[in-house]
Amino acid sequence: MSTDEKLVANLTEKEAAKELSRLATQMAAADAAYEEAQPLMSDADYDALRQRNKEIEGRFPALKRADSPSDKVGAAPTGRFKKVRHAAPMLSLDNAFSGEDVTEFETRVKRFLGLGEDDGVALTAEPKIDGLSANLRYEKGKLVQGTTRGDGTVGEDITANLKTIADIPHTVKGAPDIMEVRGEVYLGKEDFARMNAELAARGEKVFANTRNSAAGSIRHKDAGETAKRPLRFFAYAWGELSAPLAETQWEAVQRFEKMGFSINPLMMRAETVGDVLAHYQKIEAQRASLDYDIDGVVYKVDRLDWQSRLGIVTRAPRWAVAHKFSAEKAQTILERIDIQVGRTGAMTPTARLHPVTVGGVVVSNATLHNQDEIERLDVREGDTVVIQRAGDVIPQVLSVVTEKRPKSAKPFAFPERCPACGSAAVREVNPRTGERDVVRRCTGGLICPAQGVERLKHFVSRKAMDIDGLGMRQIEDFFGRHMIREPADIFTLEARHKDGVFNVPGTSDLNSYKRLAPTKSKPARWTAEVTNQKSLDNLFAAIETARSRSVDRALFGLGIRHVGEVTARLLAQRFETAERVVELGRALANGDEAVRDDLVNIDGIGETVADAMAEFFREERNGAAVDRLLAHLTPTQVEAVASESPVAGKTVVFTGKLEQMTRDEAKARATALGAKVASAVSGKTDILIAGPGAGSKLKKAADLGVQTMTEEEWLALVAD
Ligand code: IVH
Repeated sequence: MSTDEKLVANLTEKEAAKELSRLATQMAAADAAYEEAQPLMSDADYDALRQRNKEIEGRFPALKRADSPSDKVGAAPTGRFKKVRHAAPMLSLDNAFSGEDVTEFETRVKRFLGLGEDDGVALTAEPKIDGLSANLRYEKGKLVQGTTRGDGTVGEDITANLKTIADIPHTVKGAPDIMEVRGEVYLGKEDFARMNAELAARGEKVFANTRNSAAGSIRHKDAGETAKRPLRFFAYAWGELSAPLAETQWEAVQRFEKMGFSINPLMMRAETVGDVLAHYQKIEAQRASLDYDIDGVVYKVDRLDWQSRLGIVTRAPRWAVAHKFSAEKAQTILERIDIQVGRTGAMTPTARLHPVTVGGVVVSNATLHNQDEIERLDVREGDTVVIQRAGDVIPQVLSVVTEKRPKSAKPFAFPERCPACGSAAVREVNPRTGERDVVRRCTGGLICPAQGVERLKHFVSRKAMDIDGLGMRQIEDFFGRHMIREPADIFTLEARHKDGVFNVPGTSDLNSYKRLAPTKSKPARWTAEVTNQKSLDNLFAAIETARSRSVDRALFGLGIRHVGEVTARLLAQRFETAERVVELGRALANGDEAVRDDLVNIDGIGETVADAMAEFFREERNGAAVDRLLAHLTPTQVEAVASESPVAGKTVVFTGKLEQMTRDEAKARATALGAKVASAVSGKTDILIAGPGAGSKLKKAADLGVQTMTEEEWLALVAD
């Protein structure tokens, strides 16, 4: 277990010092990035770091650093803006992706209200603005506080920043004594383009899209900076009210307009679903020509008495739905298809595209998934293709514009040999299903340099051995120079260096190694600034620490197919030492049935893992490389499963945002308590722990009758 995963109570003094240093560096980088309005992490993650730092300092007061993040002056308790609990939660919206979904929404509403089939439910329809929601609190007509949505329950006080927005009145007439107006802060497309051009001219980093840009601007520490950004605001909802605004959604929003707020001109009221769907079409047709980004149309039940009867489910109202537009598409030329070879030899085709802007983001790569996909699309180098970008996922190639195909374009011949090592690349047939794998794999195994380098990257990665200073680029470099070819080489690096092995003229030389350090202005980038000796010392120290990583991390780091984090942990818990797991692997490779039975009887481990282990150890060079590695390690044992825990043996799934722990921490803790952590909800799931923003998994759990709890309820359940 690395120190960043350990509970504070379990840290040794040495680990605590290391952890405080890591936290100071990480938070300084996050602060710098935040000030540049390019946040590196969510606020919840930042707060978690701050909290952890505080706890460690509480336990080891003597270790408190001179540059302790707790002492940063001028910072509110969170280090940034003051946190404010919303008087009424700020909700999110359920999504609809088709007309059918919208009809179902109406049916649900009617059923809930006990209305007949022929009863009408008037709805409002308005664009869903792609910005950030804000809550404006007016007391006796005066704007007293403005907050961000935050997690929906607690937001941040950004009053000064919001007051700089011209669309937001500082005083209003004819409003209830207490009135919270909610709406969207956004940036117009033209203003965004102009702003980016100015940033670029000054050599500063530009924003990817209007939303990021609005987010960065509204949460600027210096409200004077926010004032320079042409932000705007549409009012569309409300929070706490001392008296009702109206009887309908429509009238309430009209009142906002009379008070001096901007309301969206495309908002309409309709009596039938057919009418709102027609309005959706109209808005979608205008989407590109609107001066602000929108990503759908929001429908709301117009009658406010009905809204309050309908209420909310988890975090979203039953009385509203967001009808999303389909993902944005664009056409561009596919210049080349590259094949990337992963650590297990999987060959993934990637489309290299002529750069094109889709939904405000420049795209130059798209995934083509696999060989079947290329054949299905009949996509060729030189083709004009339609690409789609949905949310934050990797863009996809949707189709080929065959009319634009150049005469010379030839069907793409998916390589049957590995581009890195020349070994045969095959599509295996699954012995159980008899089906051909969609993935073509290089069979070069240990001789394939692409697999070798990817395996090493995996070995040093954060969830495996977590070796600081051996980043992806360094691994490629060391591998290329034959200084590290297998995991064991990492642990002999220092000795070889001291022996002068690398100082032979004309051969690779460790002295050219530069640890790349973050700078304040470029926290996310790395520049060579640290002296060689110091960086080398740091690297060697990090390698030293890694020698005693836990057994499960070492096992996971080996990159045996199907032995992921969870399986590695199960193996480590059951067999305790790495040597025993290796023995087991060899026995499996020799066809030892008793051992195999023993293994597949472990809850959570099946035939696939047994097959994969057998295959790995059947290759003697794998076993030998593992032996060489283990000679350098003294892995710590993983705690045994706490079988008396209330969640022992249960299958749990985490979804949404967790506020009190990171996802990794939550998983580690659940596993330590004997629970199985799965990523998808199924009939086998016992508990779904849903944080804010939970979506389809929550729905599925409800459909399947799976027990659902909040993070707090979960913590109470597992508290010792
Ligand atoms: S109503 C009771 N109306 O969408 C529901 N939200 O996915 C409160 N949004 O957090 C929201 N345009 O930031 C509503 N016309 C609109 C909207 C809108 C954009 C955002 C809002 C909300 C998110 C939910």
